[in-house]
Amino acid sequence: MPITVLLGAQWGDEGKGRITDALAADADIVARFNGGDNAGHTITIGSSVFKLHLLPAGIFRERCLNIIGNGVVLNPINFLKERDEILAAGFPVTPDNLQISEAAHVILPGHIALDAAREATRGGIGTTQRGIGFAYSDKAARIGLRAGLMREPERFAEDVYAHTERVNRVLEREYERPPLDARAAAAEYAAAARQVAPYLANTARTLHRALAEGKRVLAEGAQAVMLDIDHGTYPFVTSSNATVGGVLTGLGVPAQAVTRVVGMAKAFCTRVGAGPFVTELGGELALRLRGTGANPWDEYGATTGRPRRVGWFDAVALRYAVQTNGLTELALTKLDILTGLDPLRICVAYSYRGECLEDFPQDGEVLAQCRPVYEELPGWREDVTAARSFSDLPAEARAYIARIEALAQVRVTMASVGPERMQLVTR
Ligand code: IMP
Repeated sequence: MPITVLLGAQWGDEGKGRITDALAADADIVARFNGGDNAGHTITIGSSVFKLHLLPAGIFRERCLNIIGNGVVLNPINFLKERDEILAAGFPVTPDNLQISEAAHVILPGHIALDAAREATRGGIGTTQRGIGFAYSDKAARIGLRAGLMREPERFAEDVYAHTERVNRVLEREYERPPLDARAAAAEYAAAARQVAPYLANTARTLHRALAEGKRVLAEGAQAVMLDIDHGTYPFVTSSNATVGGVLTGLGVPAQAVTRVVGMAKAFCTRVGAGPFVTELGGELALRLRGTGANPWDEYGATTGRPRRVGWFDAVALRYAVQTNGLTELALTKLDILTGLDPLRICVAYSYRGECLEDFPQDGEVLAQCRPVYEELPGWREDVTAARSFSDLPAEARAYIARIEALAQVRVTMASVGPERMQLVTR
């Protein structure tokens, strides 16, 4: 019963789209288990660049079934927009290759308005303003709307109306913001519901049957370990479990079915939004790593377009990701971006008030005061973008990877050396 899990091992934006796309080639099913359209998975196919927010990356693969699991929060309007973009590009998106869990929760206009209102206060953490946290709050409070309700558009519209009216009172009283048009929201969501309904299914049952038949499932994570609601840098996190446990609860599959857990890490670190970032860089080096934004793969948020904060590779954080998720291997992305930087630095420990910490601290106050302890490694000048196997890489690049492996106790099995599908070094 093989499930391969793909998880972000840093702060998100590790290039998961890229590696999911590669792994999807061998999968019968690709399933999203957490998050919503806050994710932005960039996939380059030939000269086309796609940014997927909700649809699993298997949507580009023939004969692949895609699942949006119960652990996801679904914005039906943005889902339909994305579906139409993919359809326009010539890829099918039908109930035959996409199922949406009837138990997934729906992101409502009120959730998005509250997210924006909260972000405008001092309590903001730099969310994507997609209503994610407020949709999960309602789920946990047992007052959320589940996607299955979209099979009954009239009842769904009534509930959207009631929710919007309830939120309006909060918007006006707490945030001094104008109310939303509840009637328009209900009508828009009812129209969307009619289009979403054909995709609804009991996806846990689909997965159970597929696993019993020995089908290969790829569980595609969104966000990352450091953004996990429990194990990330709370409160600067998203509102779902982006770690391995999220696969079990977000899809309804047994733990024994998971046979492979692939972590994804960039060859350096990036983060969007607020929160501690021990290896953060400024100045020229940051500009160099971030890129100008001229290329779709430069370090600007795929969902919000915000410039990402950048830093040196953090092996303390990666070790934590390996331990938390039982990563069986690691895919390293953007190795080519480091070409020409000499020396390279890897953070091997944190210094906290004169103490050397080798374990990632759970206490956010401690983490915020940690300083990086770096080890320097020689860089390389050779172009690596044509490399296809580890032996094609310069000795310094291989040494850089070997040091990451030793520090985090995980084997690097893939490394990307450019944005194209083919620009992948495998071992
Ligand atoms: P939210 O998920 O929109 O509530 O945002 C919470 C935090 O997670 C913010 O710091 C976001 O920037 C971050 N975040 C959410 N989704 C992603 C992602 O896909 N990549 C990177 N950061 C993300």
